[in-house]
Amino acid sequence: MKDILTLGIETSCDETSVAVIKNGREILSNIIDTQIPIHEKYGGVVPEIASRNHVEAISRVTKLALKEAGIEFKDIDAITPTYGPGLVGALLVGVSYAKALSFAINKPLVGVNHIQGHIAANYLTYSELRPPFICLLISGGNTQIVHVKDYTEFEILGKTRDDAIGEAFDKVARVVGLEYPGGPKVDKLAKEGEANIKLPKTHFENSLDFSFSGIKTAVININHNNKDIKKADLCASFEKAVTEVLIENVQKALKQTNAKSLAIAGGVSANSYIRNEILKLQNENLKIYMPDMKLCTDNAAMIASAGYYNFISGKRDNLDLNAIPNLKL
Ligand code: KG4
Repeated sequence: MKDILTLGIETSCDETSVAVIKNGREILSNIIDTQIPIHEKYGGVVPEIASRNHVEAISRVTKLALKEAGIEFKDIDAITPTYGPGLVGALLVGVSYAKALSFAINKPLVGVNHIQGHIAANYLTYSELRPPFICLLISGGNTQIVHVKDYTEFEILGKTRDDAIGEAFDKVARVVGLEYPGGPKVDKLAKEGEANIKLPKTHFENSLDFSFSGIKTAVININHNNKDIKKADLCASFEKAVTEVLIENVQKALKQTNAKSLAIAGGVSANSYIRNEILKLQNENLKIYMPDMKLCTDNAAMIASAGYYNFISGKRDNLDLNAIPNLKL
């Protein structure tokens, strides 16, 4: 059978990334042009600045991705951009570029949901992984427990009712004086501390939903009212409390669905404490999957992998494809 090459394009937030993937599983190239140093001085992503930088980077990053993959435009089978969720102006750059390219080189256009992409990062790390499985999606914009029934069929079993877990990590980082992007810095500092501070954990009756606003506020107040508190202890206590809530709900989801595989995905799945605790769940009845660290945060390889599965399932988009900032799975 002929190999299928998908060109993934990711511009949903602050990474301009383009990748070429073979048959949904093999990375031929994955160029990631990060804007973190540009946004660092503002303490977070400035949407308008992100869009402008995507415009400047997209052509160059695409050429690099093709060169590294050793292919030309004519070799691509489908162009698969992220069309949501994300920052609307940032998404529009990738979507518009993909539409123009699709028109110019006469190749199919297949939109990809960014969350579907995060889940697909696992397919690039584990060639044997096949649906069905449960995926704990923990990122800067989303926190969900997803029943991945098939490559393009998903059921949301639980989701956050307020902040995404990544937002909570970034807020805690800012409160204790760590710079953007705070998640990885909380991860590092927590290793030097002890989880000895009691923090509130939110549970919902008969629901797998999450809430992280209570714990976030508690960290702000404790930090404000106790000038001598060890920041490392606060970070370790925060990580432990949120991880316990994640694991409780995941265990309920596994029981509810009788699933035998659990994957994690999204930027926060790079967190070393969460990875360790999730790995402890592995036993003869449950296999754990975790994407390579470099595939946890935003990248186009995961988008091109998800794009491949959309493409072979027959999904096609027209030139009226639009960016949808609040797109759901
Ligand atoms: O998946 P991602 O790159 O963007 C979205 O699609 O949302 O996730 C970014 C989030 C940020 O909140 C960042 O602080 C967090 O992932 N993050 C981490 C770690 N690495 C990235 N949070 C905790 N520990 C980490 N090691």
